[in-house]
Amino acid sequence: MFSNTSFFEEYGSYFVKGTGITIALTILGVLFGTVLGTILALMKRAKNFLIHWIAVIYIEYFRGTPLLVQVFMIYFGTQIMGLDLSAFVSAAIALSLNSGAYVSEIIRSGINSVPIGQTEAARSLGITSKDTTRFVVLPQAVRTILPALGNEFISLLKESAIVSVIGVGELMFQTGVVQGASFKPFSPLVLTSFIYFALTLILSAILSRFEKRMNLGRPS
Ligand code: ARG
Repeated sequence: MFSNTSFFEEYGSYFVKGTGITIALTILGVLFGTVLGTILALMKRAKNFLIHWIAVIYIEYFRGTPLLVQVFMIYFGTQIMGLDLSAFVSAAIALSLNSGAYVSEIIRSGINSVPIGQTEAARSLGITSKDTTRFVVLPQAVRTILPALGNEFISLLKESAIVSVIGVGELMFQTGVVQGASFKPFSPLVLTSFIYFALTLILSAILSRFEKRMNLGRPS
């Protein structure tokens, strides 16, 4: 398939550059997505009717519409608003906004996974509601939240291929460039699939080690 050794010499740099941009986009998306997701999860738990519903509508909208549509909407929408954002920045924003919705549900279900008895016990000992959340519920919720956040990281890495449609030079976009330049429609895709696969394998290996360490000493 890659019989011609000059294939790598000629096009290797495209894959390296694309992989770098894919990793950068994913890290930005997870980082800002986690910040946004935490805020949304708190908003959704708020007693204030308006704040609660803003969070609900946001989460449902971003989870209920295709990421592809969101990417186009952010890219062209910001242009109409007069913001001259690069495709990279638009893509990072779209991935963060999308990921925030998913992360908020991860945090919500993590909090819900802590048995209600924990809260009841803490409250019956006279611990305030705020302190119960902070010192009793959240530390236990983190055990459920972190592994799921890891999965979100992996999902976002794969989903980031979508932003190639607005011309961000990430891995999938560079693959298209190589396909065109080399007149090879298939082999660049195979290489790209292996790169994505290697990235997700490495990521899940790191995450499972991290998870094991986190669960040390946990009563089972
Ligand atoms: N593939 C789905 C979509 O196009 C999900 C995208 C984002 N997934 C995520 N975990 N942030 O809407």
